[in-house]
Amino acid sequence: MTSTIPFQPVTQQYPVKSVFPTVDTIPESFRLQMPVNQCKYLINGELRYWEGEVETVLSPVHIRTTEGLEPAVVGHFPLLDEQESLAALNAAVAAYDRGCGPWPTMSVAQRIEHMRDFAQRMEAKRDRVVKLLMWEIGKSYKDSQKEFDRTVSYIKDTIEALKDLDRVSSRFEITEGVIGQIRRAPLGVVLCMGPSNYPLNETFTLLIPALIMGNTVIMKLPRPGVLFCNPLLEAFQQAFPAGVINTVYGSGRVVTPPLMTSGQVDALAFIGSSRAANELKKQHPKLNRLRTIYGLEAKNPGIVLPSADLDLTVKECVLGTLSYNGQRCTALKVLFVHQQIVEAFLEKLSAAISQLTVGMPWEQDVTITPLPDVDKTRYFTELVNDATGHGASIVNSGGGSVEGSVFYPAVLYPVTPAMRLYSEEQFGPVIPVVPYDDIETPIDYLVHSDHGQQVSIFGQDTDAIADLIDPLVNQVCRVNLNSQCQRGPDTFPFTGRKDSAVGTLSVSDALRSFSIRTLVAAKEQPLNKAIINDIVRERKSNFLSTDFIL
Ligand code: G3H
Repeated sequence: MTSTIPFQPVTQQYPVKSVFPTVDTIPESFRLQMPVNQCKYLINGELRYWEGEVETVLSPVHIRTTEGLEPAVVGHFPLLDEQESLAALNAAVAAYDRGCGPWPTMSVAQRIEHMRDFAQRMEAKRDRVVKLLMWEIGKSYKDSQKEFDRTVSYIKDTIEALKDLDRVSSRFEITEGVIGQIRRAPLGVVLCMGPSNYPLNETFTLLIPALIMGNTVIMKLPRPGVLFCNPLLEAFQQAFPAGVINTVYGSGRVVTPPLMTSGQVDALAFIGSSRAANELKKQHPKLNRLRTIYGLEAKNPGIVLPSADLDLTVKECVLGTLSYNGQRCTALKVLFVHQQIVEAFLEKLSAAISQLTVGMPWEQDVTITPLPDVDKTRYFTELVNDATGHGASIVNSGGGSVEGSVFYPAVLYPVTPAMRLYSEEQFGPVIPVVPYDDIETPIDYLVHSDHGQQVSIFGQDTDAIADLIDPLVNQVCRVNLNSQCQRGPDTFPFTGRKDSAVGTLSVSDALRSFSIRTLVAAKEQPLNKAIINDIVRERKSNFLSTDFIL
């Protein structure tokens, strides 16, 4: 795995400078009129007012002032304490009422109506939520809109998927003289925690299926990624019965231990690192009672075969490595490129990167935007220095330049196992390229990796591709052909092996993840038939029912 291709060290630095605006150059329609100073949080159907400590939210977008660059202030949110966290838990526990509460015993059709109501109220807040998302996490305006719209579609698709599931369950089965009606029932109290990079979409892909299946929920939003949800608090309050959805904000170290150590959380739905997931899980006193649904870290490789169509490959690799600055769990995080074509590949990749727009999230066609945390630019610089210190070069002009919270993408080549970038999940705009001669090199990488989410294969030789598909489907959970790695479409299963996931999250799989199969069964004899007939005919039960949702 050694490079024979000499790359000239980069001399020309990309002028990242002057991407930041002054206050008056921000277009009027994208300005934050005033900071969102959130003091409200939802517990037991009540919007409570917090008078304690708050956390200031600083935007990734910096403003150019006479003093230099300063992060824009988006607002603040409550740093709740242990007592309020327990109040949220108590509200969720009471609303579930050991499975006897109105929400878990409600008919599926009625729960669907509540969810529809919520979706309508949410859609009415689109502009506000999208703008806050953009300011809070630095996601481009276009991608923030996509995140919102995709989430609303997810809610609508979930409703349709639940109808399908319920229709299948609305009939009796008779086997070996036993009559049974099998449905899916809720698990109990669910703690939902989403990630900062998709605080709306990924949190809601946990929250929505959990709610609609009859669970009650405590939602802890990530930091950053709190304020965008402020406009939705009233929608939650108005659309769902008291205690069904409760929000907690603040430091995870303060607000999550009381929840987990109580033993009253029945399911932990978490998207983030496996380290944090394991920390949370082990606080639960009765692990056998805790169901876990996780989306965790990944280091998805792209494998570029000698037969690859380089234009198509580079287009997908740019999307895969740099969409939202590479801050996606599904991003391509290491590229294995065959020696025969690596030079041409690097040239085209560098040229494509030089065409990307670096700028503010509201700019048309912007790709590279400010990062949510200045420490991130330090971390990426550290990774680049580690790689160059071990013999790699920055291949693209200006790669690794930094101004404030903007980090210009850096392509590193040749990356070897001695470098941190080879195995560390960088979660950002640093692209390691590993040359290979033997296809066993990338296969071996996947076999020995701690991660197992997805892989992308780029090539045109069907024999070579087929030879890779069979071993790789047993290493990861999605093999992409000439396409970047991605979660969508949301009806496709999204999961991973090893340290990359627990459980499966697609529209329909998530309904299963947040519920358990339960049945009513009776030996087929006259008394039981009469009882079942009476209950069904008189519609005495929501569970034992042949109602068919149209
Ligand atoms: O951060 C991980 C997200 O699930 C990625 O979703 O592939 O649709 O961008 P995406």
